[in-house]
Amino acid sequence: MALVSMRQLLDHAADHGYGLPAFNVNNMEQVQAIMQAADSCNSPVILQGSAGARKYAGEAFLRHLIEAAVETYPHIPIAMHQDHGASAGVCLRAIRSGFTSVMMDGSLKEDMKTPSTYEYNCAVTRYVVDMAHDVGVTVEGELGCLGSLESGEAGEEDGSGAEGKLTHDQMLTDPDQAADFVARTGVDALAIAIGTSHGAYKFSRKPTGDILAIERIKQIHAKIPDTHLVMHGSSSVPQEWLAVIREYGGKIKETFGVPVEEIQEGIRHGVRKINIDTDIRLSMTGAMRRLMGQKPEEFDPRKFLAEALKAARDLCKERFEAFGSAGQADKIKPMPLEAMAARYAQPVRVAA
Ligand code: 13P
Repeated sequence: MALVSMRQLLDHAADHGYGLPAFNVNNMEQVQAIMQAADSCNSPVILQGSAGARKYAGEAFLRHLIEAAVETYPHIPIAMHQDHGASAGVCLRAIRSGFTSVMMDGSLKEDMKTPSTYEYNCAVTRYVVDMAHDVGVTVEGELGCLGSLESGEAGEEDGSGAEGKLTHDQMLTDPDQAADFVARTGVDALAIAIGTSHGAYKFSRKPTGDILAIERIKQIHAKIPDTHLVMHGSSSVPQEWLAVIREYGGKIKETFGVPVEEIQEGIRHGVRKINIDTDIRLSMTGAMRRLMGQKPEEFDPRKFLAEALKAARDLCKERFEAFGSAGQADKIKPMPLEAMAARYAQPVRVAA
């Protein structure tokens, strides 16, 4: 069984200079699409469940779907990650139920809407790190709030995200504060704010440096070269799928995502985990709408879901290849969580 800690995967990615897409999962077809793509190109996998997914499917269903993936593809190392934990309690419950990685999002208060204080973020994240590392589980923290540098709007989507207007300071992670945060909390990975937001509506034009601050990644990486950086809100919002959705009756306004080339630039500067949810949703919706439009007599939901699965699988494979994780799965020797816990128990290794 190759369920591993996310830290092990991110360390391997850093050692070999690639990035790993972390795909959000809500149902069986999404898990199967990601696993078929990973299997076909030999990529390690991060499967993550958001607050929205936990509400939709329930934690037990999510966990069992991921366990089914582990059982079906024993040769692929998989990290089971909890996305955007609102509190220490949410993270501890995920750890208890078998997640090998948790995100403690202390950038927001427990309501997942209100930006918190820096002191609160440090304290709650440190607490989760102490618990999680004792059992070899990885912790991702977040500093700065996701939101649009273009509009100043915060980015609530799928159960988490600030509400209303934010200042530029809140939407751009400060490199010095990032260094202080990592030193105080001991997180394995840090989600940074650089102008991306969750969902389909990220940018009203193809983003340039003023609205997508890739330069900020370089400054942060220079301060904390040994911390794995995480890009949230990193769907590329494929124009071809928007066109299919519109052609078959969907209504999606003009919008742009994070170009794959910008993510690749981030990977060259310390980004190791790239969160993708919306792209899978857009491709599945496009594929289902197309089949419904082309075959109005069809009534078997499996037919629509099979099309959706294929569309998501092709998209995931493209991302595994573009981020460089394709070809890496069989080079990773799964390490038990106990061994990870023993590594964390050595202060020198943890601080590195
Ligand atoms: P997208 O909405 O851009 O896919 O981002 C997902 C995400 O960051 C989940 O945490």
